[in-house]
Amino acid sequence: MIFVTGGAGFIGSNFVLDWLAQNDEPVVNFDKLTYAGNMNNLASVRQDPRHIFVQGDIGNTAQVAALLAQHKPRAIVHFAAESHVDRSIHGPAAFVETNVNGTFGLLEASRAYWNALPDDEKAAFRFLHVSTDEVYGTLGPNDAPFTETTQYAPNSPYSASKAASDHLVRSYHHTYGLPTLTTNCSNNYGSYHFPEKLIPLIITNARAGKPLPIYGDGQQVRDWLYVSDHCAAIRRVLEAGKPGEVYNVGGWNEKANLDVVHTLCDILDELDPKAGGSYRDQITYVTDRPGHDRRYAIDARKIERELGWKPVETFDTGIRKTIQWYLANQEWVKDVQSGDYLKWVEKNYEQRQNPVETK
Ligand code: NAD
Ligand code: TYD
Repeated sequence: MIFVTGGAGFIGSNFVLDWLAQNDEPVVNFDKLTYAGNMNNLASVRQDPRHIFVQGDIGNTAQVAALLAQHKPRAIVHFAAESHVDRSIHGPAAFVETNVNGTFGLLEASRAYWNALPDDEKAAFRFLHVSTDEVYGTLGPNDAPFTETTQYAPNSPYSASKAASDHLVRSYHHTYGLPTLTTNCSNNYGSYHFPEKLIPLIITNARAGKPLPIYGDGQQVRDWLYVSDHCAAIRRVLEAGKPGEVYNVGGWNEKANLDVVHTLCDILDELDPKAGGSYRDQITYVTDRPGHDRRYAIDARKIERELGWKPVETFDTGIRKTIQWYLANQEWVKDVQSGDYLKWVEKNYEQRQNPVETK
């Protein structure tokens, strides 16, 4: 079986659902259930005996060690993290706690477990660390995309904490021989995406008749990858990646934020038209994010060349599927928009008091 951390979050739950749909190998899903963890994402596998959910913190080494001893996984796939840049600006401590200290605790438990395995299981074991392209910092308009050897230059508390976790993982391979794999992926989008991030926020705000907030001039560029393509890349790296190696994962889909928002509005105008106008009318320019990275772009040639992975979805096909999913799953949206989410919206957007321009 495999041991997944953070499998109740956006990418982790997509990974668990895809995994169980594609093979019979059981999954232990270990998740703290922070605001970002949502058991509704896993409703379809709740009764599935191959899915063993355990609530807990990756920093709790004793709990993780006991679970590893009990379930004897052949691999750990580590998604658990604090993942939202804006939250890391308001409260960086949780990012250091989970992404740095938590990953350290998980590595310690993994190392002790791995050391005690018989030789053949030791050789086959993998620790796959799921990371982000944001560790590489920001690019100018004409810079080449990030490769696996681009120098780390994280700019937000989120990316700095992920960079630190990448370094710890690297050191556990070089120092102790732990068979680690690291993936650095670009921005994901798709089903079960918590509506604090740009794409689900725009879809849900548009339908609720609320402003569509564009930070600064909206010309920041992100590379977008449909979440099931990311999950397929992780499965492929787990299967055939070389221990100690890093693989960049991306969609070859660089888009400026404003273009993404325009696309979302135009597809919503087609699929769910509103009376008397376009969703574009709700676009509002607000104060920029401090330290906002201008451009991310991924060179994903290594994973294609060495492991034969490339994305299946284009931005056009993936974004349409995503919007259709949100339209069909309004109960899920209503549920996540209660509680902590409401407090977050108040904190993040009420401080961006000066809408600069409304189009
Ligand atoms: P998410 O915020 O949606 O989910 C994170 C999950 O981790 C939640 O279920 C949460 O409950 C759990 N968690 C948080 N702290 C924990 C702890 N201390 N112990 C156990 N569980 C804990 O995040 P996501 O967007 O699904 O991202 C998953 C991983 O992928 C992260 O490591 C992130 O850095 C990385 N990543 C994300 C993106 C993206 O676009 N979302 C892109 C590249 C890489
Ligand atoms: P986000 O989804 O938070 O991902 P990340 O910061 O990890 O790239 O944001 C994507 C881009 O959208 C980023 O450039 C910030 C911008 N953005 C807005 O313009 N308005 C918003 O309300 C949010 C949440 C993000």
